[in-house]
Amino acid sequence: MIVATTVEQVRAQVREWKSAGLTVGLVPTMGYLHEGHASLIDTARANCDRVVASVFVNPTQFGEGEDLDSYPRDFEHDCALLEEHGADMVFHPSVDEMYPDGGGQTATFVEILNDMPKQLCGKTRPIHFRGVCTVVSKLFNIVTPDKAFFGQKDAQQLAIIRRMVRDLSYGIQIVGCPIVREEDGLAKSSRNTYLSAEERAAALCLSRAVFLGQDLVAQGEKSADAVVDAMVASIQAEPLARIDYVSAVDGVTMEPVHTFDGTVLVAMAVYIGSTRLIDNFIVEA
Ligand code: PAJ
Repeated sequence: MIVATTVEQVRAQVREWKSAGLTVGLVPTMGYLHEGHASLIDTARANCDRVVASVFVNPTQFGEGEDLDSYPRDFEHDCALLEEHGADMVFHPSVDEMYPDGGGQTATFVEILNDMPKQLCGKTRPIHFRGVCTVVSKLFNIVTPDKAFFGQKDAQQLAIIRRMVRDLSYGIQIVGCPIVREEDGLAKSSRNTYLSAEERAAALCLSRAVFLGQDLVAQGEKSADAVVDAMVASIQAEPLARIDYVSAVDGVTMEPVHTFDGTVLVAMAVYIGSTRLIDNFIVEA
């Protein structure tokens, strides 16, 4: 596997692959990789001739007081996992390589100006999706992939990137991949490493709420409000949990909905101690 740290290295390699008629898939990540990330690599591997993963903890998507400095990092382990899953190249740039102004500063952002980034996670993380769109745009411009792979785990991020790709006419196919969970249900996340043993047990209230919501829908519940209320009550039974939001929104626009009609995203963010975790499910009616 090629380890590239500069934009130029990536461009030169991708040029070579493209001139040989090969298709290129991109899997953007912030590292500390787990089986959720691995599933994206596997899907990219099955769909593209060459697979590029990026490992970059992007400063512009972290707000004041968020976990930029403490975000877990283990590049050696990441490389082993990527190699095992058949990635051809990992792009691991420095902050200055990605943001030449220094200190993770940039004068130019890519930002969606409608309400999409203001819903759900945007309420507590107002600059988050501007940072995500900016770095993903940069990665698209650097790697120029045919396809890019994102997890349904970050459902709002996936919807926003689809919208950005449409609005900016990126000729890139965005592939959404299902949530990978631990055996007991907890959605895999690099942030799960922040949890103490007691918090790890408490964190199951998220996936339990997802399964409860899915069961209610399967039993014929048509009211999204009723499903959300039941999920909230079940999470509130966990003393270590503090709800940021549990919401039902249109799967494309992220606008709040009250009934299941079309594609609905039921999403939540819950603090377990000081760790903020997210989970969700989609209802197709
Ligand atoms: P990160 O949190 O590292 O996630 C990278 C990709 O892995 C995202 O598309 C995310 O949805 C996916 N992923 C994470 N956990 C998953 C799970 N349990 N099941 C399936 N997919 C999972 O998301 C980011 O990084 C950043 O915002 C990024 C897009 C790289 C921009 O900086």
